[in-house]
Amino acid sequence: MDGAASGLDEIKSRYLSQIDAAKDEAAIEEIRVAALGKRGEISLKMRELGKMSPEERKTAGPALNALKDDIHGALLIKKEGIADAALNERLKAEWMDVTLQPRSIQPPAGQGTIHPISQVSEEVVAIFADLGFAVKEGPQIETDYYNFDALNIPPEHPARQEHDTFYMSRAEGDARAPSVLRTHTSPVQIRTLEAEGAPTRFIAPGRVFRSDYDQTHTPMFHQVEGMAIDKDISMANLKWVLEEFCGAFFEVEHAELRFRASHFPFTEPSAEVDIRCSWKDGQLKVGEGDDWLEILGSGMVHPKVLAAGGIDPEIWQGFAFGIGIDRIAMLKYGIPDLRSFFDSDLRWLRHYGFSVLDKPTIAAGLSA
Ligand code: DAH
Repeated sequence: MDGAASGLDEIKSRYLSQIDAAKDEAAIEEIRVAALGKRGEISLKMRELGKMSPEERKTAGPALNALKDDIHGALLIKKEGIADAALNERLKAEWMDVTLQPRSIQPPAGQGTIHPISQVSEEVVAIFADLGFAVKEGPQIETDYYNFDALNIPPEHPARQEHDTFYMSRAEGDARAPSVLRTHTSPVQIRTLEAEGAPTRFIAPGRVFRSDYDQTHTPMFHQVEGMAIDKDISMANLKWVLEEFCGAFFEVEHAELRFRASHFPFTEPSAEVDIRCSWKDGQLKVGEGDDWLEILGSGMVHPKVLAAGGIDPEIWQGFAFGIGIDRIAMLKYGIPDLRSFFDSDLRWLRHYGFSVLDKPTIAAGLSA
């Protein structure tokens, strides 16, 4: 019996080392057939049990069964290991960079365009720079104070409702904490006066926000604020500057403007300005015809606004204006729906966009 047992040990270690060396599932299967298959070595040994005496069978039976289980178990573990390794190999081989942009949405080289709003902003800056205006900026997330109070719009003023303001939550009692998305660029008036005093002459282009949405309103749009403060600035200066600007911007000899009395809390007197234009065959032409289009609000800066900016209204005076950039872009380039500016539609951008090389300058022509 000892001989039989040592024979089993030899069989076991032989198969275990074969299993260990197996490289793939086919090799494993070959070993399984050789050991445990119908005519396999261990299966044949099992058959011999029948010829043994009951005594011999008592020890040889369990020993053979244990051997069979051991080989079977080792085969299974090895098989799983080989399957895992194969899967890992596959994962490595078939790895794909999902962050790579599909070709179809990469713009062909050289075909990116400048958005009309960017182009028009540059044009506005170029014209006012030529008139001696600096460019200032202010935050898009503003405080009630700068957006309203300092501009002579106290809490109970009806203009607060008209602005369709986006409010944000803020710490209770902290009246000067940021709390609104600015509804206009006018707060930059106060910030600039506070920081730099008078005299001053600047524009402040940028994004503004109001909760409104239709063909001529989007929740985010663009304005350019303008301000000129000195000791003897009058309404006549305002008129001249705006006429110069409109002539240059719309590229006409003479842009005829109509000043209509209006009301803004931060100016006194206040005027809204319309530009003469014609609609012919659905085409808008500025500088001729019998129609008028409103393009901006303006006026002489209210003494309370000057005081809020920290300058003495007894000494200083001046004008301010606010132009809708999107509005004048629509007019100049014949774009009928304001919402299309912000749709990110590539066809629209290719049609209305500007070449990267079209830098607007006064000398070279603004939109040649
Ligand atoms: N802030 C005004 C608005 O958004 C526009 C405006 C009107 C600005 C008159 C001015 C101004 O500076 O003087 O409706």
